[in-house]
Amino acid sequence: MSKSYESLMGAVGRSVFFRPERQRVRELLSRDARPKLLVDGKEYPLFDISMNGLSFLTPTVDESWEIGEALDLSLMLHGEEVYRGIARVARNEKGPRGARIGLGLSTGFLDLPEILRKDDDKRLERDLTQGPAERSRLVPNAYKDAISEIVYFLQFYRKSLDEHELRFRQSLHDEGALRGLGERAYQAVCGPWGQLQELAAETALGCLHDRDVLLSTKEFTEVLVTPLLMKAPFVKRAYEKPLGYPGDFQLMQYCYANEYEGDTAFGRAIHKYYVDSYPLSQGVRTRKDLILELMVKEHRRVLDADKETANFRVVSLGCGPAREVSDFIARQRSWPGQVVWTLIDQEEAALSVAYQASRREIGKHQSNGHLNLLNLSFVQLLSEGLPLQTAGTQDFIFSVGMFDYLRESRAKNLLRGLFELLAPGGLIAIGNARAPNSFFWAAEFVADWTLLYRTENEMVGLAALLPESAELLVESDESGAYYFLLVRKH
Ligand SMILES: C[S@@+](CC[C@H](N)C(=O)[O-])C[C@H]1O[C@@H](n2cnc3c(N)ncnc32)[C@H](O)[C@@H]1O
Repeated sequence: MSKSYESLMGAVGRSVFFRPERQRVRELLSRDARPKLLVDGKEYPLFDISMNGLSFLTPTVDESWEIGEALDLSLMLHGEEVYRGIARVARNEKGPRGARIGLGLSTGFLDLPEILRKDDDKRLERDLTQGPAERSRLVPNAYKDAISEIVYFLQFYRKSLDEHELRFRQSLHDEGALRGLGERAYQAVCGPWGQLQELAAETALGCLHDRDVLLSTKEFTEVLVTPLLMKAPFVKRAYEKPLGYPGDFQLMQYCYANEYEGDTAFGRAIHKYYVDSYPLSQGVRTRKDLILELMVKEHRRVLDADKETANFRVVSLGCGPAREVSDFIARQRSWPGQVVWTLIDQEEAALSVAYQASRREIGKHQSNGHLNLLNLSFVQLLSEGLPLQTAGTQDFIFSVGMFDYLRESRAKNLLRGLFELLAPGGLIAIGNARAPNSFFWAAEFVADWTLLYRTENEMVGLAALLPESAELLVESDESGAYYFLLVRKH
């Protein structure tokens, strides 16, 4: 199970004091675990657990949970009690929909490795006793028909390409023909595969509103379709999530490179489809171009106001490889005053890629640019502010590929936090995959890559906590896959 962006903490969250890691229950355990938490005999939804504590949600904030108060705790998983004992209230955090109460165990501990092992065993037992029929019972027939067509399509091309690849290897020793096979295959599959995916999306629409149907339908897809696409490095990484969360910087790098990759012709054709033609990936490049254009314009605005001493300050939150920054330097090369980029990502490896690419361009053109790279999470940014920078100082702030993982209240709070960092006259640009769309199927159903697609109105709604004086505009990027909320501070 993959981690949510809200639980990714960056370096600071991990440093200094050892504290057993808290893990979201829905990211840690299967749905079959059906946790049942009783606190003084009353049931509450479990939120996260660690070796020495847990937290749960209460719908109201008026119940009194005194810090230090001792409570009777019982936790059941898979219908079996895994903990019973006394716990004390350690935290009481109010949220938009109630409160989250953190408890520290006074006696014993939660044996997480053992709990995980049991969870896996239970899932195996269920698969062996119930078999597949029970799992696919809720999948609509129309969806099964669409998948059957898709499986035939993919298997047809896989079989054909595998055969011809072998023939080229064995008899022709023709490297050119071998290389060209992936390209010919991409040209052939591109159109029809796009249409089949749109058909799948149309059929899947009806599954989105019932959680049980949605999960069964996704599982059905992951059994039948996903394995057929795993020869494409993009799909393999998107599905397996080797860093523990979806949409990592390496996937973005695949999109920017837009090449044929993979060790079979079929894999190369499918990989190329997903980086070149799939709207969400195509949009990674066009949204980067949109940010680049905005950065150039905002820089001009700042220079126009004060040519002599102008310093242009830019923040990218969830920067990944920060391709806009290296592209900006490569294009502009030199400018009056200094440009200071503060690039923030919870992933150190992403910052390393961003640093190298931007440093290289700065070195090449002797540009007057300075890079602050911060390995931290937006969660810390909200609670502790932005290290090295004071409020009201940034001329251009953007976040692309991150808000589409954040629920509404979190996204609104984050935008308010970013607005505080913005200098008067400055601009914020927030990118988010758009709704409605006909391309969600492959991400959600094939790769289990959940994005919160937003409509134009929902994009505007993200600014609900900003002062009325903030000027709002929603734009689409060139691919049409992403909306941008633009916020100007007056
Ligand atoms: C989909 S990528 C987009 C990267 C880049 N903006 C781009 O468009 O190429 C999302 C990035 O957000 C980062 N990220 C995820 N959760 C984060 C968090 N809580 N705080 C800071 N960065 C985060 C990931 O590490 C990843 O590099």
